[in-house]
Amino acid sequence: MCPDPTLPEVALIGRSNVGKSSLINALLQTKAAAKISSTPGKTQVINHFLINSAWYMVDLPGYGYAKVSQTERVKWEKMVKNYLMNRANLMGLLLLVDSRIPPQKSDLEFAAFAGKNQLPLYIVFTKADKQSVAKTKHTVAAFSTELLKDWEELPPMVISSAISGLGRDEIFAKMEEALNAFVPIPEEKKWQP
Ligand code: GTP
Ligand code: MG
Repeated sequence: MCPDPTLPEVALIGRSNVGKSSLINALLQTKAAAKISSTPGKTQVINHFLINSAWYMVDLPGYGYAKVSQTERVKWEKMVKNYLMNRANLMGLLLLVDSRIPPQKSDLEFAAFAGKNQLPLYIVFTKADKQSVAKTKHTVAAFSTELLKDWEELPPMVISSAISGLGRDEIFAKMEEALNAFVPIPEEKKWQP
């Protein structure tokens, strides 16, 4: 069972191996937290982590497995989108993108979905420790260019490393801001699949 949506929640999404679980561990290093529940589906799991008794962070299953069947892909999409559209307490949605690679179709598609549905999207570029600052900036610029084909304004972006802790304070600061401004979406605006 997922916890009742009594506290605001920040969901992490991104391609498999992008560093979602690592980012959670990095964020929790200096913050008291506990894994409070897990929801096993047939092949997927949603994990909730309590942060500072004030909000949850949610580790959603990754997408973009090369070998996953079309049926699995559709199932994943339905499950995750249904989850995101129906969580009244969703105060942030962090889309994790690998800072070392050019914009990927699946990431851009997910960003488009979030934009279209007015979800509170943030982009987090991961693994910045693995390359030069210039290369990371190049990736951020390329991703921004792609987003601006659809978006009038860019969502907030953070460059991070689970190894060095880069971006951790910035993510916490942005989530604190979101927490202060958070208003749950009303029942009638919830999406039904
Ligand atoms: P799934 O659960 O399969 O969707 O993957 P995930 O997104 O949770 O990725 P995970 O955190 O398991 O990380 C995948 C691999 O990338 C691991 O080997 C991590 O050690 C490595 N990794 C993650 N973040 C970083 C980072 O910031 N820097 C470096 N150098 N390696 C990282
Ligand atoms: Mg993971």
